[in-house]
Amino acid sequence: MPSPRLELREVSKVYRNGGQPVEVLHDISLAAVAGTVTALVGRSGCGKTTLLNLAGAMDFPTTGEVLIDGRATASLREAELTRLRRTRVGFVFQFFQLLPTLTALENVELPLLLSRAPEAARTARDRLRWVDLEDKSASLPYQLSGGQAQRVALARALVHSPDILIADEPTGNLDTASGDQVLALLHQAATDFGATVLMATHSAEAAAIASVRVGLRDGRIQSIDRR
Ligand SMILES: Nc1ncnc2c1ncn2[C@@H]1O[C@H](COP(=O)(O)OP(=O)(O)OP(=O)(O)O)[C@@H](O)[C@H]1O
Ligand SMILES: [Mg+2]
Repeated sequence: MPSPRLELREVSKVYRNGGQPVEVLHDISLAAVAGTVTALVGRSGCGKTTLLNLAGAMDFPTTGEVLIDGRATASLREAELTRLRRTRVGFVFQFFQLLPTLTALENVELPLLLSRAPEAARTARDRLRWVDLEDKSASLPYQLSGGQAQRVALARALVHSPDILIADEPTGNLDTASGDQVLALLHQAATDFGATVLMATHSAEAAAIASVRVGLRDGRIQSIDRR
């Protein structure tokens, strides 16, 4: 059994927004190895996005630990955290979150420019080719279909060759055909790039590409089923 790249150990999360504290994740333990897709499924409000934010080191557990390659995210210094988030984790969202005034290619290239990575333009072009959208390099987001926009977003998320790819409802805003294309690419991100893919979804088609499906209910793990 390979050691997990991403591990949650007895994680809980409490939100405090002035009012009563609300515990939205309880005692979550979960591990994901490289090259696999894990799907989080469950009703709206069960805690999927909260869990993704913890797994991507955007937020921290209230108790328990989130370990990336064996290191607890809460123990990292600010500079290490920034580097981890920018270079080792990629994010894809339901509404794509492309910058509207940048072309497809510029959207993909931007993270590399911000981290002063070498060969930014060439790598960005490679990723656009990987999602089969090289011909849309010069298009602005409004000129793309939803499926194309999500593929650009996926190219951007993978531009650093991140170890961990977080996808929050990646097909939630797509028709079936575009959704299937995006799902095939997410699966390929695991197989081609060796990424650890963690995806929240309401869609049975999306959950079906995962090798592990984690059912959440009211912030607790209700089921884990492996294929
Ligand atoms: N920043 C926050 N502050 C306070 N409460 C929050 C915050 N983010 C989420 N919540 C609450 O935590 C619970 C879990 O929310 P979360 O967004 O993780 O659910 P979800 O499973 O992703 O739902 P959906 O399927 O609708 O996206 C909800 O009750 C939500 O209102
Ligand atoms: Mg959510």
